[in-house]
Amino acid sequence: MERIQKILARAGIASRREAERMMLEGRVLVNGKVADQLGFKADPLKDHIKVDGKILFRPEPKITLLLNKPKGYLSTVKDPAGRPTVMDLLKGVKWRVYPLGRLDFDAEGLLLMTNDGDLAYRLSHPKFSIHRTYWAKVEGIPEKKELMRLKKGVMIEDGEARVISAHILRQMEKHSWVEAVVTEGRNHLVKRIFSAIGHPVLKLKRVGFGPIRLGNLPVGRMRSLTDEEVEKLKQISSESGEKIL
Ligand code: URA
Repeated sequence: MERIQKILARAGIASRREAERMMLEGRVLVNGKVADQLGFKADPLKDHIKVDGKILFRPEPKITLLLNKPKGYLSTVKDPAGRPTVMDLLKGVKWRVYPLGRLDFDAEGLLLMTNDGDLAYRLSHPKFSIHRTYWAKVEGIPEKKELMRLKKGVMIEDGEARVISAHILRQMEKHSWVEAVVTEGRNHLVKRIFSAIGHPVLKLKRVGFGPIRLGNLPVGRMRSLTDEEVEKLKQISSESGEKIL
């Protein structure tokens, strides 16, 4: 936070003294309110400042997008090897958004992208154990007791891992689709736990992240989250919101 006359002077609007006069004349608005006291402070990165009706600073709006990531795209900003990344799918998006978490190159489905660094940081913190829902096409048909093992916990290279729930969605002769919910973002977690019970993953799709659902958004398309969805995400990443998963 800085004194407004200092912000205006640095932006080249007027000298500091002249900026004070403009303030006293009621010509400066901060977030819609007249800033006519010389002690007023503002944050040029967060506050909306207008001088003589003209916008001086407009903070970048926070946006969060939901992308249905196709297979064959990395969920990073850049790839040194030159493979396609999710950034290639964001044509027309004015703001610089970043992927929130990772989805494997060969996986598809729900990937959140945001320019809200604070929200991204909080949602990726392990203490919130956000539910991530996956549909996995696996080799063979896991038996009930194998799915129970996943619930109790299996050992993988970097420690124990478990699912909150797992059930068969569809079964064919040689493979099946299983819905599994995990609460961590460890690398290749779903693939590794299914390998641990002898049913390697053939295809993987994320369909849910906390309260957000992929729904019927076509592959490769994106949409903005609704205000209600953003609110729910904020709630689950606040200290008191851990139960609303
Ligand atoms: N688990 C995986 O194995 N891969 C992903 O992309 C996400 C979860």
